[in-house]
Amino acid sequence: QAPSAPLKALTPAPLGVAVMSGQLDDPAWTTLARRHVSQLTPEWEMKMEYILGDDGAFRFDAPDRIDAFARANAMRLHGHALIWYSQGQDWFEAIKPARREQAFDDYIARVAGRYRGQVAGWDVVNEAVAEDGDGLRDCHWSAQFGQDGYIARAFERTRAADPDAVLFLNDYNLENLPRKGATFLRLVERLLRAGAPITGIGTQAHLDIDIPAGQITAFMRDAAAFGLPIHVSELDAPMGSGLIDRARRDARRRLQTARVTEYAEAFAALPERQRYAFTLWGLRDTDSFVNRQGGDDSPLAFDGDGRPTPLFQALADGF
Ligand code: XIL
Repeated sequence: QAPSAPLKALTPAPLGVAVMSGQLDDPAWTTLARRHVSQLTPEWEMKMEYILGDDGAFRFDAPDRIDAFARANAMRLHGHALIWYSQGQDWFEAIKPARREQAFDDYIARVAGRYRGQVAGWDVVNEAVAEDGDGLRDCHWSAQFGQDGYIARAFERTRAADPDAVLFLNDYNLENLPRKGATFLRLVERLLRAGAPITGIGTQAHLDIDIPAGQITAFMRDAAAFGLPIHVSELDAPMGSGLIDRARRDARRRLQTARVTEYAEAFAALPERQRYAFTLWGLRDTDSFVNRQGGDDSPLAFDGDGRPTPLFQALADGF
């Protein structure tokens, strides 16, 4: 069988993938990545929980390794994620209230400053919108700075630390739950009007393959209206684990194919300057966080042996 074309050559923008530094020691992973991928997002090791660890001392060993690998292989690096509701709570709340603003600013200055000129963009704030899509989340950041306040501040501090990076507000279920997508876009609008330097929109794209046709296209059209670069930032499309019945598995595969092709088409239809990158949340099915608890789902573009899955073809068809 002839080897498939490199996925990055079929994609009308950089083709990204999430990576853990340990995967850089796996020659099967690195060979596949060098052939197909042109951008890396650290899956875990640029997050606050890694960088600050338990003791609050900054650690940059793993993200530096990923950065070096990206550079050595002429791949772009995407920073993920500076401020996230699910991280940093213990660290932040242990700081005296009077020192918290400074600590927040210093964290961003150090991390974004270190990778200044190395990252193409940053997910500055991740997952700000409430789970049900109604309003914003309350968290340790919003308790200190207010719901819009922590977001605006994070964007301002990141802009000061890295004047050239594209600065993303990144979230999930934006296409799966239209109500959440609308709340997200209203938030972008409000923050832009208030002068926050948001310069990119990130849609994670952890897909629910049961959504109606057209919903992805509609979200992408509404998001594109801001004229900002768009990052499809973490795509995977779980079909469900344990699909032993052949007919059922085929039916799930058809739905997966249709929705993934729709995403690729909607992305390809953007004006070129709005196509930041298209990123998959893992290279092989076996790399997926969906399967980390022992599942056998097929949410990604390559199987465990590095062969293209139907999802690879669904992307190629859409691009
Ligand atoms: C996930 C990683 O894949 C896991 O390895 C880690 O344990 C938890 O985080 N949205 C995001 C990503 O923005 O950072 C998450 O990544 C998946 C959901």
